[in-house]
Amino acid sequence: MRIRQIHRWLSMAFTLAVIANIVAMTMQLQAVWIGFLALVPLIPLLATGLYLFALPYLGRRGNA
Ligand code: HEM
Repeated sequence: MRIRQIHRWLSMAFTLAVIANIVAMTMQLQAVWIGFLALVPLIPLLATGLYLFALPYLGRRGNA
């Protein structure tokens, strides 16, 4: 499934952004854009994740 692949790779991008955030926090950097760096992959991650959640229920409707 293509959405599953997208979700998987977005999760990696999000993980990297979270690590960048932790590094910035420990360095006491006040960079707002690093915070947004984690938000950018999180929003499509939420959309694809909700889609993956709905998949088994959507499939059940047709072949009940
Ligand atoms: C933001 C809200 C999120 C929602 C609603 C969500 C939802 C889901 C759902 C429903 C699945 C499929 C589970 C299944 O049917 O087996 C899934 C798989 C997965 N999620 Fe998320 N997720 C979210 C965020 C994340 C985050 C933050 C990460 C990691 C950084 C992540 C990593 C993964 C991975 C690695 C899989 C397995 C993908 C695969 O099987 O190829 N997700 N997620």
